[in-house]
Amino acid sequence: MTGRLADKVALVTGGARGIGLAVARAFAREGAALVIADVNRAGAEAASAGLAEAGGRAMAVAVDVADPASIAAMVEAILARHGRLDILVNNAGVGGNTPFLETRLEDWNRIIGINLTGAFLVAQACAREMVRGGGGKIVNIASLSGQRGGDGRAAYGAAKAGLELLTKVMAVELSEHGINVNNIAPGAIETEMARFAHDAATRAAYGYLIPMTRYGTPEEIADAAVFLCSDEARYVQGHTLNVDGGFRAAGLMFKRAAPPAAGAAPTPTTTNGGTP
Ligand SMILES: NC(=O)c1ccc[n+]([C@@H]2O[C@H](COP(=O)([O-])OP(=O)(O)OC[C@H]3O[C@@H](n4cnc5c(N)ncnc54)[C@H](O)[C@@H]3O)[C@@H](O)[C@H]2O)c1
Repeated sequence: MTGRLADKVALVTGGARGIGLAVARAFAREGAALVIADVNRAGAEAASAGLAEAGGRAMAVAVDVADPASIAAMVEAILARHGRLDILVNNAGVGGNTPFLETRLEDWNRIIGINLTGAFLVAQACAREMVRGGGGKIVNIASLSGQRGGDGRAAYGAAKAGLELLTKVMAVELSEHGINVNNIAPGAIETEMARFAHDAATRAAYGYLIPMTRYGTPEEIADAAVFLCSDEARYVQGHTLNVDGGFRAAGLMFKRAAPPAAGAAPTPTTTNGGTP
């Protein structure tokens, strides 16, 4: 196999669809052998079969990242097939969009349990194997919601902010084992999660707040993941790579029209500095 990830064994959690599936496809294109792990077993199997049909190497594993026993079984299955693990993309996650005052403890626990505790458990189990194998690459999929205080993002944003800090600690502690640990923080990306969670007003607001004026694609996150998992990123450590069309960078953009109110006709672009 040739490619930037030739013959690496790569695990992508939440790989049945969306960003995870795009990452798996990009890694297969770069020569990696894929493990697609997802709570949606049928989805993981379909994704794995799709990669194989396209000439890639892939296996599917059912996992619930919130369940340590399920993670242990996943790692065992990977080792039984490949004997080692070189790359982890910690991507499995669930969205959340509930106002702070209405966030119930069970919602909080579910979102933290999958997006933060789940990522911790998977990373720890995989890093132990990478230590044994003499090195590896871990990419955690965080979010711009972990950096900016958006409406309704109490649990989801706290989980993603926690994941960013966890990444830094892992980078510090795992450097001596030859393991690079970095984050990708996607902005608004066109996936099922976004289609479900973003209503018309949210989409209009993003269109206004993102300098590049559009949602990103899963493939644009996948390309960043290939870079971070390749040898080209060997000195990138504990970093958060925002892939967000400039959302985080932006401040006052007074030459833009304000977003239309939900249900209203779009506001025409002004030439004299429409203010937000
Ligand atoms: N789409 C966006 O705009 C966006 C923005 C920032 C960050 N993210 C993050 O990117 C990652 C992927 O998001 P996406 O948009 O592709 O979402 P998605 O909902 O399309 O895909 C998520 C995948 O994770 C799987 N999953 C959910 N819970 C799981 C569990 N407990 N165990 C194993 N697998 C589980 C789902 O079955 C699904 O296949 C998530 O961590 C998300 O928080 C997404």
